[in-house]
Amino acid sequence: MGKKKVDITKLLHSMTLGEKIGQLVQLAPFLFKDSAKGIITGPMEALGIKDSDVWNAGSVLGTAGAEETIEIQKMYLERNKKKIPLMFMADIIHGYRTIFPIPLALGCTWDEKLVEKAARVSAIEASAGGVHVTFSPMVDLVKDPRWGRVMESTGEDPYLNSVMARAFVRGYQGDDISKEGNIASCVKHFAAYGAVEGGREYNTVDISERMLREFYLPAYKAAIDEGCKMVMTSFNTVNSIPSSGNKWLLRGILRNEWGFEGVTISDWGAIKELIPHGVAEDEKEAAEKAIKAGVDIDMMTGCYIKNLEKLVKEGKVDEKFIDEAVYRILKLKEELGLFENPFKGADIEKEKQVVLCDEHRRIAREVAAASVVLLKNEDVLPFDKSIKKLAIIGPYADEHAILGPWSWQGRWEEAISLKEGIINEIGEDRVLVAKGCEIEGDSSAQFKKSLREALKVAKEADAIVLALGEHHDMSGEGGSRAFITLPGRQEELAKEIMRLGKPTVVVLFNGRPLEIRELYNIAPAILEAWFSGTEGGNAIADVLFGDKNPSAKLTMSFPYTVGQIPVYYNHFNTGRPKPSEDSKERFCTHYIDIPNAPLLPFGFGLSYTKFKYSKIKLDKKVLTQDGIIKACVKVKNVGKYPGDEIVQLYIRDITASVVRPVKELKGFKKIHLEVGEEKEVVFEIREEMLRFHNENMEYVSEKGKFQLMIGANSRDVQTVEFELR
Ligand code: NOJ
Repeated sequence: MGKKKVDITKLLHSMTLGEKIGQLVQLAPFLFKDSAKGIITGPMEALGIKDSDVWNAGSVLGTAGAEETIEIQKMYLERNKKKIPLMFMADIIHGYRTIFPIPLALGCTWDEKLVEKAARVSAIEASAGGVHVTFSPMVDLVKDPRWGRVMESTGEDPYLNSVMARAFVRGYQGDDISKEGNIASCVKHFAAYGAVEGGREYNTVDISERMLREFYLPAYKAAIDEGCKMVMTSFNTVNSIPSSGNKWLLRGILRNEWGFEGVTISDWGAIKELIPHGVAEDEKEAAEKAIKAGVDIDMMTGCYIKNLEKLVKEGKVDEKFIDEAVYRILKLKEELGLFENPFKGADIEKEKQVVLCDEHRRIAREVAAASVVLLKNEDVLPFDKSIKKLAIIGPYADEHAILGPWSWQGRWEEAISLKEGIINEIGEDRVLVAKGCEIEGDSSAQFKKSLREALKVAKEADAIVLALGEHHDMSGEGGSRAFITLPGRQEELAKEIMRLGKPTVVVLFNGRPLEIRELYNIAPAILEAWFSGTEGGNAIADVLFGDKNPSAKLTMSFPYTVGQIPVYYNHFNTGRPKPSEDSKERFCTHYIDIPNAPLLPFGFGLSYTKFKYSKIKLDKKVLTQDGIIKACVKVKNVGKYPGDEIVQLYIRDITASVVRPVKELKGFKKIHLEVGEEKEVVFEIREEMLRFHNENMEYVSEKGKFQLMIGANSRDVQTVEFELR
């Protein structure tokens, strides 16, 4: 496909200052539609923008479908003087219409190929729907499950998050974003939004530069290194300066250090939020700060439109800042092939064909099954398909709202509920269903009645599936919770049912690690299904009946209780480490009422089979600057089912110029083993893997002793030592 050559520099020079500023503005689609009808809407008035501003804006966010995008682009091109096409951006976070499990669940697959596949399907569908850019991946490192947006991240580890960030970008962008079916990727939220204090939405972030660089920045950088075209700023402060006005972050780290040449965009309304943050007196000052800091596109405020021209004329903002930003935006439009075809990808017929097509549903099912984490299993699972009677009890027994937040194009009625999935597996006749309670909000009388029905059904059954969870609105943006237990009367229901002593598995639908300590003690089996997307019910049934052997592992620790948060595996040792979990020593780092360890650690997840690890063998004990150590371990399937195991490599720098974590994930391999099969897993250790930000903030390795750990999760590892010379 020969690309239409546009001389961007020439185009830029031909534009008036007003036209250029228009490119820096992103508006919601309804503004275009209303304006075309001659309606000045309330929101438009609130933004303080004029009709003409709408037809000058450079991009749109949150459009739905080919029909709408084509309509808006047509109207726009008829009215825009320079005929510069609009760029359509949207939050395609875990699927367009075929919805995949939430990103936290995708991370639990530890399978970059699957994540890439999910992103690819999302791109194919979104592109047919006219989307050019997705606001994904969200790679904010998360350690606090109270924060609702942990569901959008792949977890608490910088290495795993980086691997996944790259996979998302590859999946969306393919090899050339101008091709139909490929869309540009916008990594977010730069930076460190995941570190909001107390897990409270939009709260302050205050972390040291070293922490920022060691833990929080690597995944954004990984996405950029993979060729990600855009970066979105975060709502929070970094070092007391909101990201959308943070020059050090945007011009310093992003542009100068990392050499990012793509487009930056503020988060929704974030430029105007510089005012309540307290760093700008009014919208004019907010616009000045944001453009100087390096924010190219103003998402959904009137700050740029109303003030940049004045600021340039008053000599407060150098026009070169605007020219540079516009150049980057036009360049992206050119790379997307929009000058050649402003309707790139958008195709009403194709959209109908590709969304939810069999192949996409098949992939969604495969990915969902691979993201289900088996947390406990006392010989309950897998169920025998010839089971006489199976009861499905709980508010999620036959619930279709399992897509999870950020699935705005997905439709609940298109999702497979757990009951439907199980019926697809074993037929209708042997399945009994009772709700038992609502997710929350039952009155005592209601609960009594529902419980009675549930117990009746449970008594008739040979085995029970308890389908429990959070409402999807309890996570996602604005979904912070202080109590992260199962809401409503669900635990009570579970206890009553489990008192019957029948083989029971709890299946959890949720967007965050929950506090499930009591349930964990009494439930014979627990399956963490997350919000599993369109094919959720089928995928969970695949796992329940052993068509799929679970292999996923947690990428965020499950706390023992909320008072332990943040609890994460790659912590420091402290000067007074606790001698052992059951130690009675008082003057060591500990709580007097709970353990230090989380209920379930990072990397944890069970299988129906058992894997035996041999002793770690190193081919040498000394690593030289340009050498390699090979660390080998043999893993054998000693159980009864074929299965996949995720073998994890951790390293600890024992002594360094700054304190280093007790372990850090440095590699992992997902292997398949037939019953009785043994495979050798080899990790290559190189000097680069040992680098960190030293006391002078230089990214180097330091000579000395290291521990190398290999295991099935971050807690259960074997340890050997080596030396870097
Ligand atoms: C606000 C969210 O923080 C961000 O993640 C999203 O991309 C934008 N809104 C646009 O919808």
